[in-house]
Amino acid sequence: MGSKYYFGCVSCGKIIDGFAEWLAGGRKCPECGKDRIETFYYDDGNLKSLIYGRECRINTIWRYFDRLPLINRDNIVSYGEGDISAERWEFLERYAASLNIDCKVWVYRNDRNPATGTFKDAGASLAASVLKEHGIENYVVASTGNVANTFACYMSKAGISLYAFIPENALEANSAGVSYYGQRVFRVTGDYAKAKKIAREFADKHGFLITGGNTDCLRVEAKRTMVFEWLRNMPEFPTVYLQSLSGGTGPVAIEKAIREAENQGISCKLPRFLMVQPDGCAPMARAWEKAKANSFPDGWLNDYPVYDNPQTKIPTLATGNPASYPVVGELVRRSGGDIFSFEESKCEDVVRAVAFEVLAGIGPASSVVLGGFFRALKNGLIGNGDVVMINIGEGINRAPEFLKSLSYTEQKVSSVDECGLLCRHRLRQDLWDKIDSL
Ligand SMILES: Cc1ncc(COP(=O)(O)O)c(C=O)c1O
Ligand SMILES: [Zn+2]
Repeated sequence: MGSKYYFGCVSCGKIIDGFAEWLAGGRKCPECGKDRIETFYYDDGNLKSLIYGRECRINTIWRYFDRLPLINRDNIVSYGEGDISAERWEFLERYAASLNIDCKVWVYRNDRNPATGTFKDAGASLAASVLKEHGIENYVVASTGNVANTFACYMSKAGISLYAFIPENALEANSAGVSYYGQRVFRVTGDYAKAKKIAREFADKHGFLITGGNTDCLRVEAKRTMVFEWLRNMPEFPTVYLQSLSGGTGPVAIEKAIREAENQGISCKLPRFLMVQPDGCAPMARAWEKAKANSFPDGWLNDYPVYDNPQTKIPTLATGNPASYPVVGELVRRSGGDIFSFEESKCEDVVRAVAFEVLAGIGPASSVVLGGFFRALKNGLIGNGDVVMINIGEGINRAPEFLKSLSYTEQKVSSVDECGLLCRHRLRQDLWDKIDSL
């Protein structure tokens, strides 16, 4: 099966032939026992034509089939993921200009993915396809919410049974979004770390396959196609990349894609990673702050807090034990970027301003990164000439409870005399006054 791609152990370089060998070995390197691998392709020369070739009419992640670890196209499980736009949001550019910063601002609309409208659909498409190819019938995942939803959707299409473990505080909509496909969802009493622990025990008990962590090669390979799409569709490559941060698969995938592209002579450079966490669960931001204040002392990558049962109203981003910090922290530093937090109490103001200006309903995890954009402008993290890419990871339909909290123009009335008139101009002023004071 391994005639198209192979894996290399990130720690010792040992070559692993493909998924069959990797899975048979319990997903551990046969040489050093570590569990992080990277995917390589034998035919290294065709990336340029996949990106720039005009003859290919596929606009999903499967445009890059030749550079995804699947052998047979018949096994593709797809809902059209990745066929989404990079949009210029000029109202954000105008705002930056009001602070004397001349930059371009793009957003990548993962909320427009047709399956579940999240940043997670690409990974689920590849995972379902690969599992189908290898005849796997049961799959286990621990998730803060969105991954469980999208895996439920894609595994159902592939005829695979899913066991999803979600933390106690995961949104009702996330649980329902697994269950209504007829997949099993376990709401674990405890946090994401506990959900992961029980999921692992359950998988061991039944001999089922469980998802890898944030460096899971399936998630990384799928998410990295985002970079190929930027190269294909954007006039210039981003110099800054903003994302709300939970475990950090996004930056890992982007860095890999850029390395591949550079190896093929495509010119692109690592953008500065600006990673934003909600202040209710910001262990990486706290670790980074401390390291930065101490000029990144020896061992800084292994010095991070672990929060049990983090109290956040954005459970999708509630990774209290940031085990991937050593990987993500190193990448952010190398990119010249930053990790910081944004106040959850201000997220509604951000969502309302975006909805007013571009009629886009962004979800809670996306409001954190947009809030982070405004903060980054004010703190000098974005400058003249930057081309900014903001990853919109989810739309408002992911979080019906959050949507309810966004209402701000409702008036209760019992007679026509009580009905006030609307002044959109005034409303806009109020919204931007709030953004100004962030
Ligand atoms: C909408 C959304 N944005 C961002 C993230 C964070 O992704 P990462 O794993 O890259 O930290 C998540 C993860 O759950 C998410 O659901
Ligand atoms: Zn190894």
